[in-house]
Amino acid sequence: MKIKKAVIPIAGKGTRFLPATKTISKEIIPIINYPMIYYVVKEAVEAGIEEIIFVTASGKEEIENFFDRNLELEAFLAERGKKEDFELIKKIGEMVNIITVRQKEQLGLGHAILMAEAVVGSETFAVLLGDDITLGKTPVTKQLINCSLQNSFKSVIGVMEVPKEHTRRYGIVSGKFLKDDKQTLRMTAMVEKPAPEKAPTTLATPGRYILTAEIFDALKKIPRGAGGEYQLTDAINMLCEKDEVYAHVFEGERFDTGDIIGYIDATIEFALRDEKYKKQVYKLIEEKYLKYK
Ligand code: UTP
Repeated sequence: MKIKKAVIPIAGKGTRFLPATKTISKEIIPIINYPMIYYVVKEAVEAGIEEIIFVTASGKEEIENFFDRNLELEAFLAERGKKEDFELIKKIGEMVNIITVRQKEQLGLGHAILMAEAVVGSETFAVLLGDDITLGKTPVTKQLINCSLQNSFKSVIGVMEVPKEHTRRYGIVSGKFLKDDKQTLRMTAMVEKPAPEKAPTTLATPGRYILTAEIFDALKKIPRGAGGEYQLTDAINMLCEKDEVYAHVFEGERFDTGDIIGYIDATIEFALRDEKYKKQVYKLIEEKYLKYK
């Protein structure tokens, strides 16, 4: 068995990025010259995913267009002899097979994932949130796929260690580490945004999952939760009661690019990782620091 499908929900309103998100989708906002969603799709492709299922809403067509061929632009670049740009644009258009399904009402992440049921079918699949970027030597989704493979293709929730005072920002898991794998826990439950004194651990779930198709039954049974939305956390808890669910502490960095500070952090990180910009950006940061400190 192979995990070939990834669901990427991108139907949210992106209110933290208003007013930009009045007319453009959050996921198309670029980190330097690549839209943030590019990095998410790239991670999935590098993890061996063959089919991406975008859960979209009206106004998100630009994301589909970005991953489509643009023959007019290709012809223009070819004509002008811009070979490198031509190759780059063509490559993005051929990157992966994309299917889109609509979420007609934004009723939460759990509801968004349920919209992909007909396309996913009975296969175990990956979920990557469209506004979370991870950077790992091995793509984070690949790490989770490997963990699922080692544990009979069961569900695996990607987790990372966070400072105790930050537990309120995340879903936090509880469970027991496996005897022979100190990066993987057999999960018992997940709590949404607990206060530090109530958090069972400091292992947070930033938006990478491997889920068995049983999650769809759970998603159909859960009532509306926090904020009147159908919460994925509630469905995962239901799954934990019935089946083995694992949490895997992945290696790598994660940026919450759905949040302004996370977005700025990612932009600086990507600029400093790029040999082309590194020196100049470092100098700019130094100058700005001296000017505004
Ligand atoms: P967020 O909680 O970040 O919500 O959703 P949002 O609407 O994108 O952004 P803010 O909080 O208003 O700024 C996490 C992920 O789940 C998707 C979002 O697109 C995002 O990738 N989502 C959320 C849906 O697809 N549908 C929903 O109903 C809710």
